[in-house]
Parts: sequence; C-alpha cells; structure tokens
Amino acid sequence: MNGSWTSFGGDLHLDLTERRAAGAGLRAALEDALREAVQDGRLAAGTRLPSSRALGEDLGIARNTVVEAYGQLTAEGWLSSRQGSGTTVAQRSAPARGPRGARPGPRPPVFRHDLMSGRPDLSLFPRTAWLAAARRALATAPHEAFGYGSPLGRIELREALTHYLARVRGVRTDPDHLLICTGVSQGLGLLCAALRERGARGLAVEGYGLPPQHAVARAAGLAIRPLPLDCDGARVDRLDERSGAVLLTPAHQYPTGAVLSAERRAAAVRWARERDGYVVEDDYDGEFRFDRQPLGAMQALDPERVVYAGTAAKSLAPGLRLAWLALPDDLVEPVARLKRRADTMSPVLDQLTLAELITSGTYDRHVRRCRLHYRRRRDRLVAALAEHAPRVEVTGIAAGLHAVVQLPPGAGSEAELLARAEAAGISLSGLVWHRAEPDEESDAEPDGERAESGPALVIGYATPPEHAFPAALAALCELLRER
Ligand SMILES: Cc1ncc(COP(=O)(O)O)c(C=O)c1O
Repeated sequence: MNGSWTSFGGDLHLDLTERRAAGAGLRAALEDALREAVQDGRLAAGTRLPSSRALGEDLGIARNTVVEAYGQLTAEGWLSSRQGSGTTVAQRSAPARGPRGARPGPRPPVFRHDLMSGRPDLSLFPRTAWLAAARRALATAPHEAFGYGSPLGRIELREALTHYLARVRGVRTDPDHLLICTGVSQGLGLLCAALRERGARGLAVEGYGLPPQHAVARAAGLAIRPLPLDCDGARVDRLDERSGAVLLTPAHQYPTGAVLSAERRAAAVRWARERDGYVVEDDYDGEFRFDRQPLGAMQALDPERVVYAGTAAKSLAPGLRLAWLALPDDLVEPVARLKRRADTMSPVLDQLTLAELITSGTYDRHVRRCRLHYRRRRDRLVAALAEHAPRVEVTGIAAGLHAVVQLPPGAGSEAELLARAEAAGISLSGLVWHRAEPDEESDAEPDGERAESGPALVIGYATPPEHAFPAALAALCELLRER
C-alpha cells in the first residue's frame, strides 16, 4: 500500500501503510498523504496528477477511492479539477511550510545589486550554440562514449584543448597529459593530494587569493604559506624548501590584478627545478585581457615543472564544472589515479559538447564577444567612478571580470563600507576576505610586507546581466560618493 507512482510522468512516494496502521481508512490515508505532499512542496502547484484509474492501479486500491480523495482535496482547495484536463495541484496551494522537520533559518540579506566577483554574466551563456553543439556531439558520439572511460576525460575534448590552448595561450601539452576535472577546485584538490603522497607538506600561495582554494589544499594535508605581493605579482624570491609547490595566477593576479613579471616567472620555474617542486598556474581568466594581447601561459617555460589549470567557469559558466589540467609527465599517473578514485571520470556529454564548440570555432567567437562585453563594462565602471568618486583608484591591469577599488583615506574601514553596501542592497566583497592566512606562525610576514594598501573593494563588474548593470553601477557610485 506504499506506492511510488509514476503515471503522471514523475515519481512520488506515497506512504499509506503507516497511516493505515495508525487506524486511518484507505480514503483518509490517501487524502492525508496527498495533502502532505502538496503542503511540503513535493507536489508543486500546477503538477498534473495521474488519472484516478492509473493511481488506483499503482497503489492497488479501488479507482473510486481515488476519485473520492481527489474530490475532497479539490473541495479543500489543494487540488483543482477541470473537465477534460484532469486534476492538478491548485495554484494557491503553495507550500505553507518547508519539508517536514525543516526550521526556517535566519533570513539571508536581500541584495538587489550583485557585484560579487568571480562570476561571469550568466545571461551571456551561448544557449543556442551549446544546444546545437550538444546535438551534433550526441549524434556523432560512438556508443563507447557512454561507458566508463579514461579518468583523464574524453579524448575529443583533450584533443580540442591541446590545439586551442597552444594557439590561444601558448600551452605546450598533448592529450595524454591533459586531465578534465570538475572545476579547478577539484583539479587543485587532486594535485595537492598527489603532492602530499610525494611527501610535500606545504603549498605556497599568493598573499591574497581565493580562500576556498586554500581550504582545498589544507583538506589534502598541505599547510598554506602566503607570499607577499606587490605590483609585479607574488614575491617568489621568498619561496623555500617548506613548500612542495606554489599556486600562482600569473596572467592576472586574483584578486589584486597584477601581472607576474617575466623575471619572477623565470625565478619561480628555477625554484621548482632546484627543489623538485611545481608551479601550479591558475589561468582562470587568461582569455580576458583588454588592453593588449595577454602574456602567454607560464607553463610554456617548463611543462615538466608547471601545471597549467584552466576552466570554463569564466568563459562559459561555473555551473558547467568543467576545467582542465595540463600535467607534467610525473604527475599524470598519480593525478589520474586520484581522479578515478574520486569520481571515476567527469561526465561525458558536456565534455563532448565543449569539444564540438571548440573545434567548430564557436567557442572562439563566444570568447571574443564576452571580451568586448566585459571590456565595456570595465570602461563604464572606471568612467563612472572617475565622475562620482574621483579619489578612489581602480588598480590592476585592464583584464578579467573584476576590479579592485582602493578607497581613499577617510573613506572608512572596509568592514564599515561592506555594512553600508549590504544596507544598500549591494553584494560585493572586500580585499580582506581574500587574504591568505598562514598555517604556521613563522609564515607570518613582517609588518608591511603584504600588499597592505588600505581598505579596498573587489568589484565583480561582469556579474550582473546587462539590464541590471546600470542600476548596480549607480548604487556603487552612490555608496562611494564623497560626502
Ligand atoms: C582565482 C580563481 N581560480 C579558479 C576559479 C575557477 O574555479 P572552478 O573552476 O572550480 O569554478 C575561480 C572562480 O571563481 C577563480 O576566481
């Protein structure tokens, strides 16, 4: 008398046995189970219910019992039934409460303007092109593509990326050294675990970065060792033997926006060679440099010492969870083994679709369109701030999806500004949130060695869809307007 009914096109588990055991009649038990499913949202408003005959058959009860239960719930307003269109969940029966047992938590702040960094304008996702590429990929994929495959990922995507990365970023790799992973975060976790297996104990990172990445490294057993930052990027002269690798964002330091100088690139590679260590190059937005051709990937300096990490999170969408590592020979086996252990391999359909998008040239066209879009956004941000808050300074190179805005003396602390931003309905982050915390006391730099530049905000100018950008920019200008 329990039923998972499927005849309306979806599954819903209805438990009548317990209610029957508690003494309810069959009709009352069914009414009660349906009412509860509507109330707690498992049956959404508008859902079409199975016919009384089909539900009766699914549950092994008389059709009439179902007719009566539907009638009662219709009279109560939970369901509505119209001649010819069957019975549906009534529109006004929106769940009165969350799933059973759920307690409402504290209300999250409501943000009208989203300037949080790290995200692309999701309205630019090339839906039509993606769908067409998915169709073509599905139509031409061999049957074997749908089975268990290499933990490195689909060969079609690894081949497409080999050529694309060589052409656009100067990466020197081949399909046997590329691994497709679920976001850079997973790739970094696998790498850190492989380095830990080889005896590494620490990961050097830039003094400001992405704290969730630091958490990934810690979870793999590596201690975080921040390096000071200046306008030429990370002070790699501070690298020592306590780190097995250094994580860098050479093309566009996240979040401060510096480019790692040529001397420092060479010095970091020298350090890796001498210490049997690695450089992990996070090229998260390398395709989005606006002022001139981006510098090529650092990986080309030494593919056996630099791991290149790229992602579709900025160029397409973070929700795809598609990223790739170009690995030195030594790391292919351990990282692939850990990937297999983690989740066998990344899902194939999106890999095939992305491969198709790249080989057809559509991906290039999409990236060019996004580059122009984000460049205009940045120009608008810089112009608006120059007009309304001339003493704030936009620092970092003209690139990427975010900018750092340094606040002038007297503008208040970062925390005060963030509180005012929240009150104004603006979602954004401050520079301090990005600070890398050392895992050992001795790692702390002497005063003044980090990029201490006073309060600063990190503005994700790419984040809002186009229609929402002017209002978000106006709200930001109002927040920073000098009083
Ligand atoms: C510095 C940096 N690296 C990498 C990524 C991409 O991470 P993932 O591919 O896990 O979404 C981001 C996204 O916000 C980022 O800001």
